Amino acid sequence: MNYNFAAMKPTLLLALLLSFVALPLLAQSHWYDHAVIYEIYPRSFQDTNGDGIGDLNGVTEHLDYLKDLGVDAIWLSPFFPSPNADFGYDVADYVNVAPEYGTLADWDKLVKAADQRGIRILVDFVVNHTSDQHPWFLESRSSRTNPKRDWYIWKDGGGPDKPPTHWESGFGGYTWTWDDKTRQWYYHFFLPQQPDLNWRNPDVKKAMYDVARFWLKRGASGFRLDATPYLFEDPKFPEDPNPPAAHSRDRFLRPYNAGLPEVHDALRGLRKTLDDTRPESVLLAESLTPNIQELAKLYGPNHDEVQLPMNFLFGDIKTLDAREFKKQIDDAETKLNGGTPVFLLSNHDRARIWDVFGDGKHNQQISKLIAALILTPPGTAQMYYGDELAMKTVSKPELADFGITPKRPHPDGRDGGRTPMQWDSSKNAGFTTDTPWLPIAKDFATVNVAKESHDPNSMYAWYSSLIHLRKENVAMRDGIYVALESGNPHVVAFACQQKLGETALIVLNMSGAEQKLEISGFASWPKFSRVLLSSPSAPTPHSGSLNIAPYGVMIAATD
Ligand code: NOJ
Ligand code: CA
Repeated sequence: MNYNFAAMKPTLLLALLLSFVALPLLAQSHWYDHAVIYEIYPRSFQDTNGDGIGDLNGVTEHLDYLKDLGVDAIWLSPFFPSPNADFGYDVADYVNVAPEYGTLADWDKLVKAADQRGIRILVDFVVNHTSDQHPWFLESRSSRTNPKRDWYIWKDGGGPDKPPTHWESGFGGYTWTWDDKTRQWYYHFFLPQQPDLNWRNPDVKKAMYDVARFWLKRGASGFRLDATPYLFEDPKFPEDPNPPAAHSRDRFLRPYNAGLPEVHDALRGLRKTLDDTRPESVLLAESLTPNIQELAKLYGPNHDEVQLPMNFLFGDIKTLDAREFKKQIDDAETKLNGGTPVFLLSNHDRARIWDVFGDGKHNQQISKLIAALILTPPGTAQMYYGDELAMKTVSKPELADFGITPKRPHPDGRDGGRTPMQWDSSKNAGFTTDTPWLPIAKDFATVNVAKESHDPNSMYAWYSSLIHLRKENVAMRDGIYVALESGNPHVVAFACQQKLGETALIVLNMSGAEQKLEISGFASWPKFSRVLLSSPSAPTPHSGSLNIAPYGVMIAATD
């Protein structure tokens, strides 16, 4: 088709322009493409009934805080009835609220209040396994002929002393537990109290899709999917010829029980359930992959699988290695077939950012750098409650001193990063009026919401500025990624460029020394008119030759 632009009326020209520029954008964009997703570990956010354990009403109480911060969606870690062998990741009833967290009516109140503030809630859906106390498993283990026997994975092995394979569980030990009553082994990728569901059984699939429907109809805007790589095992259960080293990442990427092709079918089926029930809802998946190609596949051949598979190729980097971060950002932005990248470096399974990346001397500045690393590249940013305050990991000796109580029936190696949210300087940091289930970090008198929200130099102020910038600056909000070379192995530099030319430049120094740069990658140097945000303060870059302070962050814009 040829257009005679000269002969067209201005209104027609405008309509045509809109159809080229605006409509395709509208058609492709989703609420989650540029969202900030904030993980809440409900046990540690806010206690409202004085039992020392956070609850759903505690989340509702702080929705205005989250709205002010700029949070678009909450990923709510499990709040279902559970024996708490893995603090909620062992679900005993998928369609209810554990009494310690409240009631279904509290859930309804929470979604309603969140919706009024434009905040969505993603339910943590533990798809791979249930608790060993779930009625499905109790039935399954009751006899070999029980109709639910095949809802889980049972094998003979070589009798009580010889498991069917020597596969290692993600949490250590074999993936098999012997059941004396029915004289067979059951399979669990995680704890023995977390038996894996048999996703090859169509009744299991249906029951799980029903769970999804239940929460979608009750107001969930989608799910964070737990442990998706482990839904299927090789039905021949071969021996693993190269068992993984203890504590290695490889432990979670085994050939016969992680990332099997069947996982894609199960996830596409789940997506279809979402499409039929609540089309605008989203799947955010815990999706460890060995490489970017496997991560790309998770979006589905027709963008019909997972919308937000978490990128652990980026998320598992544990040192300030600028070259590695640059490679992973470049890959995420260019090799995911148009899928939205998900940037994360923190969650409830890890030590706090302060301790993972801090060097003991520049931790405050390094934490600001990490925030910029997550919040500036085009894509979805995932953060963990308390990141915005620079909460610290509570040490093992402090946890040991605190001891075991009925509220904390057993220690977990990850407890140090799960301590209560620090709201103010009052007793127990405003988290509870009772003894909290985990200790409050010692620095709570200064590191807390009340203090930091009034301090323009605080971590809270930094997160808040970054999040608001990413929503308000047109290049950061709508721009596409432009890969740049910084000419310096310690510095990551990239740009976000909007169609009409507005550009934001992001420069991140991952070293403790000032660095000199020679930025290349722009066709011509954009006219940056101001620095939008920097730490420490930096001048507007008028050419690609510039200096950046130790662990410095600089964001410049053309508008
Ligand atoms: C991943 C979760 O993030 C973790 O906390 C949990 O222990 C395992 N999956 C098992 O559900
Ligand atoms: Ca409570």
